[in-house]
Amino acid sequence: MNTFFELAKARYSVKGFDGKPVEPEKLQQILDAGNVAPTAKNNQPQRIYVIQSEDALAKARTLTPCTYKASTVLLFTYNKDEVFLYPGAEMVSSGAEDVSIVATHIMLEAADLGVGSCWVNFFEPAKAKELFNLPDNEVPVLLMPLGYPAEGIAPLENHMKKKALDQTVKYL
Ligand SMILES: Cc1cc2nc3c(=O)[nH]c(=O)nc-3n(C[C@H](O)[C@H](O)[C@H](O)COP(=O)(O)O)c2cc1C
Repeated sequence: MNTFFELAKARYSVKGFDGKPVEPEKLQQILDAGNVAPTAKNNQPQRIYVIQSEDALAKARTLTPCTYKASTVLLFTYNKDEVFLYPGAEMVSSGAEDVSIVATHIMLEAADLGVGSCWVNFFEPAKAKELFNLPDNEVPVLLMPLGYPAEGIAPLENHMKKKALDQTVKYL
């Protein structure tokens, strides 16, 4: 893979893993890529929990059917006390945006290293807080199983179905 665009096109949501662990040095690089992501005012309110123990993985599986047999699952939260609050008609928190940028860096670095991922928000944030005993001021945003695709796993049909650019981009 030579260009960023080729990498971006090749990435897809992996919805079935072979369970093989992600090598620690690859995981480190993946997490480092998240750490260089921009956040509002560079406040870095994100927190990332690496779920790898059998006990923690079992808890993650009770949260969502979407861990897809991965042996590493990341849980992304943000600390409400560290977000940037945008002034305006009503104050808007940068938390979900900050976490999303960090998670996107991670997803694409993983793809560059041949590690599959899936963005998962099909879970109850309150249940995640309770199960993992998270601090009161943290807000869970997404889970991300990581690993190697199981045999036969390929992009879903909707992966290539993209709207034409003139439906999503307007020149003003
Ligand atoms: C914000 C967001 C939430 C998602 N939540 C889930 C989810 O809970 N479970 C799941 O299996 N896939 C989830 N996905 C993956 C999408 O279903 C998938 O990205 C989409 O179908 C496009 O497929 P592709 O990533 O292969 O291009 C989510 C993706 C995004 C961006």
